[in-house]
Amino acid sequence: MRTALKILGILIVLVVVAAGATYAWASASTERALSRTIDTHTIDFPIPFPLDPEEVEELGLSSEEADRVALERARERGRHLVEARYACGECHGADFSGGVMVDAFPIGSLLGPNLTSGAGGVTANYTAADWDRIVRHGVLPDGRPTMMPSEDFQLMSDQELSDIVVFISSQPPVDNDVPRPSLGPLGKFLVATGEIHLSADLIDSHGADHRAYPPAAEVSVEFGRHLAGVCTGCHGPELAGGPIAGGDPSWLAASNLTPHETGLAAWSYEDFVRVMRDEVRPDGSPIGEPMTLVTPYADRMTEVELMALWTYLESLPPLPEG
Ligand code: HEC
Ligand code: HEC
Repeated sequence: MRTALKILGILIVLVVVAAGATYAWASASTERALSRTIDTHTIDFPIPFPLDPEEVEELGLSSEEADRVALERARERGRHLVEARYACGECHGADFSGGVMVDAFPIGSLLGPNLTSGAGGVTANYTAADWDRIVRHGVLPDGRPTMMPSEDFQLMSDQELSDIVVFISSQPPVDNDVPRPSLGPLGKFLVATGEIHLSADLIDSHGADHRAYPPAAEVSVEFGRHLAGVCTGCHGPELAGGPIAGGDPSWLAASNLTPHETGLAAWSYEDFVRVMRDEVRPDGSPIGEPMTLVTPYADRMTEVELMALWTYLESLPPLPEG
């Protein structure tokens, strides 16, 4: 009996020591991963994008009028991008004054900072290069990798990013100090073991040029591929679906969006639109989280955007799920 107790005692000590050592290892290795400096290119683009000189001449605009029209158009394009395609407000708040990406112990508290010009706003001194770094490379202005899932935004063109900056900057200033992201023990463990990847590590290139303009807004595979950039974060780089890496453990696996029998082979365009707008599958069953986070945005996509997405999905090689 005594020996059994002694062995149990030793086992408990071993478990506690192992847990402590694992935590120390996870903390140190996450700290290392987050304090690295990542080299990215330094680019520039106009904010807002100016009008085409030919159009300015055709409309007979003075240079001031041309600037005003350019700003108005950029803001409206930016509004559509943020409302229908790039869910910045999901984590930064509907008024961009700060929001929640994850706030769950023991994973951690990953809050989206205040992007307005109010007190606590972090973008007052941002250059175009800083916007490029955080949004398309997942890198903070000082070069450290961020917890923001910027891999979803890699395909964004300069003009789209510029439009989003114009739209966000046109929002009223709100004072709100948002605490910096902090990881709990489980969050550190997931980063240390590579279960949660930092976006800067998922992005292929930090040096290649971005396209200046998006593909023409028409029903084409090229435009569809561009739009589907934001679907790959959950549905996978080849859109074949499977469990969502680094997602909330309660989330459903993402569906196979390729024209395979386990995917959308038997679907029509109308079926696709019904999911995207009404959250209902062809068999009448409702879709679940987290696709339901996407549908409010998809609901504001134009007909051309939805048709282009569908055309692209249909053009994919049929792959089995996962
Ligand atoms: C899934 C959640 C999420 C989405 C979507 C998201 N962000 Fe973020 N963003 C974050 C988090 C979390 C941080 C804090 C990152 C850090 O400090 O490591 C952040 C940080 C930032 C920062 C500030 C970096 C700094 O200087 O501290 C900017 C600017 C930014 N995001 C812009 C955007 C824009 C623009 C979009 C839309 C194109 C966007 N974000 C979409 C979660 C998100
Ligand atoms: C935040 C993660 C996430 C993002 C981003 C996302 N999806 Fe989904 N999607 C899911 C999940 C999870 C399901 C499965 C839901 C279910 O089983 O109820 C799903 C289901 C679907 C379905 C239904 C397929 C079926 O067989 O039932 C379609 C269609 C779809 N998504 C299209 C898209 C498109 C197009 C985009 C990009 C514009 C996109 N999704 C972006 C997570 C996501």
